[in-house]
Amino acid sequence: MKLPYAEPYKIKMVETIKRTKREDREKWIKEAKYNLFNLSSDKVFIDLLTDSGTGAMSDQQWSAIMTGDESYAGSRSFFELKEAIRDILGFEHFLPTHQGRAAENVLFSALVKEGDLVPGNSHFDTTKGHIEIRKATAIDCTIDEAFDTTINHPFKGNIDLNKLDEVLSSNPKEKIPLILITVTCNSSGGQPVSMENIKAVSVLAKKYGIPLFFDAARYAENAYFIKLRENGYQDKSIRDIIKEMFSYADGNTMSSKKDGIVNIGGFIGLRSKKLYDKASMFNIVYEGFLTYGGMAGRDMAALAKGLYESADFDYLESRISQVAYLGNKLKDYGVPVQEPFGGHAVFVDAKRFLPHIPQSEYSAQLLAVELFIEGGVRGVEIGTLLADRDPVTRKNRYPELELLRLAIPRRVYTNNHMDYIAAALKNVYDRRNEITKGFKIIHEKDIMRHFTV
Ligand SMILES: Cc1ncc(COP(=O)(O)O)c(C=O)c1O
Repeated sequence: MKLPYAEPYKIKMVETIKRTKREDREKWIKEAKYNLFNLSSDKVFIDLLTDSGTGAMSDQQWSAIMTGDESYAGSRSFFELKEAIRDILGFEHFLPTHQGRAAENVLFSALVKEGDLVPGNSHFDTTKGHIEIRKATAIDCTIDEAFDTTINHPFKGNIDLNKLDEVLSSNPKEKIPLILITVTCNSSGGQPVSMENIKAVSVLAKKYGIPLFFDAARYAENAYFIKLRENGYQDKSIRDIIKEMFSYADGNTMSSKKDGIVNIGGFIGLRSKKLYDKASMFNIVYEGFLTYGGMAGRDMAALAKGLYESADFDYLESRISQVAYLGNKLKDYGVPVQEPFGGHAVFVDAKRFLPHIPQSEYSAQLLAVELFIEGGVRGVEIGTLLADRDPVTRKNRYPELELLRLAIPRRVYTNNHMDYIAAALKNVYDRRNEITKGFKIIHEKDIMRHFTV
């Protein structure tokens, strides 16, 4: 008999979570004004709001926490992290930051100015926020297939080279400070970018003399998909694939809360000493001295270990197969999901789930609320709320995809939890025709409204 799959770890510590009653959940979500960010976590049974900073650290990482060096300058933990980044990603220079958006803030302070254009594949919301706050524009050059949840394309994070070429050829080079590839592409469903596409984008970037950066939050998951799906990579190790991916880039921003498997942290990796020097100034002003930049020494030490752990094939296989396990369950129940399944999350297609609710009533948000009421499961809307308003016209931007994201924290839940989530969503699906109206916003902030709406 073929032995079934089993996780390559055992559990040393557990945290109690409590089931709740439906009538309480109805009351709590009303009090939270139907914004799931307003719920306190004790009211949530299974929390799929994000895979960011919610992972379980390993015994090795916890022991690194105990030996972290908290020196303000020249911390040993900084050098451990520097060595891990050099070894795994191949960048000689790096700046620690307190999380991913801080890396964006520092890097874009050095590179992006008013009127600039930053082409890429569906920029993440904080990335877009940091571009738009500088009165620059993020241009989405993702392939069209990414916007149809029924198309089974292996690399839906890919950049459409014609769209990119059009931007590069029709604008002066001085207006395009960087090209940004997000690996994997969170906003289009945790979808990977192929090595062939990364290579082709880097050729274009070189042709036009524009630096290429990665938003690298989930680079290891991207490497796993390349190994599984791209010809010529099956026999390569994850570490070799990561090395090759980064060999085409000039630098990266990173939210270490994802593939760093830590609860807080980020960094910028850079090839150019000149850019490092320029960005250093902003790092000191916004984050902290160059050898800690917003991170505790112990957190840098744990991150150094986490970078090695997430580049391990067995870990990635267990992580990504759990996401696929949930995706397949939902598919079996007839729930419309984005295919193929992403690396860190299953994305439910609200347009197909609730076709009678218009996007102007925030159908994916509605679905997220219904799932919470049904089973105490907290997902997150990746749709019209998140897409925010056009900074000039202030009109709602309606994205092609209206999604409920079920992000799976790393090494936290078992497949029994996945079964529970799938059953809860099936129940909502079975009563979808009784869900008849969505939401109207009564209060929102000028930027990133979804957090506080
Ligand atoms: C692709 C991507 N980039 C950037 C960020 C921002 O990182 P952070 O939340 O650490 O600021 C995130 C966070 O979810 C992300 O998914």
